[in-house]
Amino acid sequence: MKFHFCSFVLIIIILITIGINTFVWAENGTLFVKKCGACHRKDGKAPPINPADKAALVWKRYFKRKRHPIDLSNIITPNELQQILTYLQEHAADSDQPEAAVIPK
Ligand code: HEC
Repeated sequence: MKFHFCSFVLIIIILITIGINTFVWAENGTLFVKKCGACHRKDGKAPPINPADKAALVWKRYFKRKRHPIDLSNIITPNELQQILTYLQEHAADSDQPEAAVIPK
């Protein structure tokens, strides 16, 4: 009986962990669409972009090297940018789950 109970608890913990991770990923994805998609969308100020447009390392360095043509610091907080970058890298071109159509072209 004791063994069964422990297995049960373990399974619950695993399920909760998976659930939280999925939730956090979804959150970061929503942030990307909301914040970056404000300009980067069809008929927007800038063309649609997607995580799979670049390799993870390129995303990682993109804002650090100040490659973005306009300053976003008064629209996107450093914390939000970090969350978005995590999401972009997790779904980059060379990731396990590339996402090419989050923002439709
Ligand atoms: C205030 C509007 C605005 C926001 C918000 C914005 N961008 Fe941009 N972005 C631009 C403009 C304008 C360009 C230049 C577009 C062009 O060259 O035609 C650009 C260019 C880019 C490019 C280069 C284009 C390319 O195809 O390589 C990338 C990558 C990019 N942005 C990523 C992002 C990401 C990631 C975010 C969210 C963290 C973001 N941008 C948020 C306006 C914005």
